[in-house]
Amino acid sequence: MNSIRPRRLRENENIRKLTRETRVSASSLVLPVFIKEGSGIKEEIKSLEGHYYYSPDNVPYAIEDALNYGVRSVLIFGIPKEKDVLASGAYAENGVVQQGIKAIKTRFPEMMIITDVCLCEYTSNGHCGMVSGNKILNDETLPYLAKTALSHVIAGADVVAPSDMMDFRVKAIRECLDQNGFSDKPIMSYAVKYASSFYGPFRDVVGSTPAFGDRKSYQMDYHNIREAIKEALLDVDEGADILMVKPALSYLDVIKEVKANTNLPIAAYSVSGEYGMIKAAAKAGLINEYAVMCESAVGIYRAGADILITYYARELSDAIKKGDIG
Ligand code: PBG
Repeated sequence: MNSIRPRRLRENENIRKLTRETRVSASSLVLPVFIKEGSGIKEEIKSLEGHYYYSPDNVPYAIEDALNYGVRSVLIFGIPKEKDVLASGAYAENGVVQQGIKAIKTRFPEMMIITDVCLCEYTSNGHCGMVSGNKILNDETLPYLAKTALSHVIAGADVVAPSDMMDFRVKAIRECLDQNGFSDKPIMSYAVKYASSFYGPFRDVVGSTPAFGDRKSYQMDYHNIREAIKEALLDVDEGADILMVKPALSYLDVIKEVKANTNLPIAAYSVSGEYGMIKAAAKAGLINEYAVMCESAVGIYRAGADILITYYARELSDAIKKGDIG
């Protein structure tokens, strides 16, 4: 008779916790934060319940709140007043993100600042690069991305995270940072970013819905996984320090595969649409928000994520503290 009884290890909470296979720590959570140009702003974001736009002078309040929850890393996005074809707001010395970083670092130098490096919030057409006719130009976009990353680091960012999906952008950013004395600043590359409808709420938040066409000529086709490895290995080669897979919940196989085929830390971005689905289903009385938040976050870690970027970072940090997960 087979004497293996799996239920022995499920008998009580102590034994279940002792034998857990996936350990989760709050130090791996990253909270997205949106900074809006202007002053005195704290405005609820309609499409991202529980999140606010803060102006640079007010953003330290968001940081204080995150730190109180035990969240020690943020991913910063900017919403500029003016947009133009050259995305000048993205790399302006006194741009909205640059101002925000300085304000945060003055009050809370211990908060780790990761910045999203992209042009789509700053271009009048909402695309992530320079445009000619209907084409999104690759090589012409690279210097603008490099300039943007450099301006963030000069302002005090700890890590830059390019999310544009242009070819060779990691190399361009690495070279630019190195030439300017920032060879110590890591790049978290959105290496595997799919053209996804789960970004819907986010595009409302930052007003970056493309004015024409879509992002399919630069973001990945969701039918593909071998291409994910190709993208990841290219970014490793170009000098990335951390690789990101995005979105997360419909791409757990991709997280697992990228982890198996590289030796860098893997970040997973559970995006705005994933957050919105849990919120909406909970509101409709269909699921328990807290329980589903915990279960889906652990699923992402179980797939192999080392870092989780999520709009639930604060609540998850609490859940870890309470011992409900981790
Ligand atoms: C910028 C960017 C996007 C997201 C993160 N960085 C939007 C996009 O590519 O359209 C999406 C984040 C989310 O949905 O939570 N390129």
